[in-house]
Amino acid sequence: MKKRLWIKILILIIILAGASGVVYYYHLLQQFDVVNIELHTDTPSGSILYTDKTQVKYEITVTLENIAGKTQTKTHWPTITTDNALCNISDDGILKVRPDVTTGTNIYVTAAYSQGGLEVSEDFYYTTRTLLEDTIDSNGIVTNPQAPDVLVNKQRGIAPEYKPDDLVVPNVQFHQTNETVKQMRKEAAEALEKLFDAAEEAGYTLYAVSGFRPYDMQANIYNYHINTYGEVYANTVSAAPGKSEHQTGWVMDITAKSAGYDLVEMFGETPEGIWVQQNAHHYGFIIHYEKGKEDITGYAYEPWHLRYLGEELAPKVYESGLTFDEYMVQ
Ligand code: DAL
Ligand code: ZN
Repeated sequence: MKKRLWIKILILIIILAGASGVVYYYHLLQQFDVVNIELHTDTPSGSILYTDKTQVKYEITVTLENIAGKTQTKTHWPTITTDNALCNISDDGILKVRPDVTTGTNIYVTAAYSQGGLEVSEDFYYTTRTLLEDTIDSNGIVTNPQAPDVLVNKQRGIAPEYKPDDLVVPNVQFHQTNETVKQMRKEAAEALEKLFDAAEEAGYTLYAVSGFRPYDMQANIYNYHINTYGEVYANTVSAAPGKSEHQTGWVMDITAKSAGYDLVEMFGETPEGIWVQQNAHHYGFIIHYEKGKEDITGYAYEPWHLRYLGEELAPKVYESGLTFDEYMVQ
């Protein structure tokens, strides 16, 4: 009998010890306080690339500490908010830019989190950039000819049959009679009208000369240059068919009376040409083939060749001091 009593007492002690252990452990858990919250993102503010590399991941590390100084960390996802619809944000902290967002678009986001009286909140912004290798096929033909940020050059061709479907003749003065080349993409045409109006207001009269050129027309122009000046020189002033950004509809060559209504280098030194050089980016255009950048662009200086990139991207390219070609690979 005595032995059984001891066993009972022993079992009771074990039960009580176990229960108090649970209570103690529970008590300890309650004592964990939030002592630090850190926000991480795998991409700092700056550029992010689009298509499958558009993802930015945010995480929060919360450090907890108990009275005994014991710490533990936990990972959470912050609340991410943005004021535009250019990206999707998932509950697990991933921000993904829509694939049709063009280069140079700014995306502003706020990541925030609070727990145990501590808060973190940070603002980030990203400038998106199309990845060149994602927009070219195995034959060296661009897959985004319709995009305002398409880069067409000697390495990146355009399909012979490509023709934009929204060509219009801008309402500006022309030094041109051929109706085909008076055309541009609608968005670019409207921007050109604003540019010409602003020039006029500043006292400079501009004339449009050559915009959209289909593949066959470019072939004729190129062959003319080859036959007249030889291949080496021709390749510095004329794009081969399928290599001209005139085929995108995003381009207009312009001139002024003081340049003899011609497409000549001295246009860049005329008051009109200087005004264009200093102001075109405000209206979404850049001078693509710049002086001193012939080795990069592949072409001689063309102060008359205006390439439309849009009102967001053109100022960024202009202010970067880079050619458009360099901007797209920086
Ligand atoms: N003159 C420019 C390079 C073109 O032919 O497209
Ligand atoms: Zn041109």
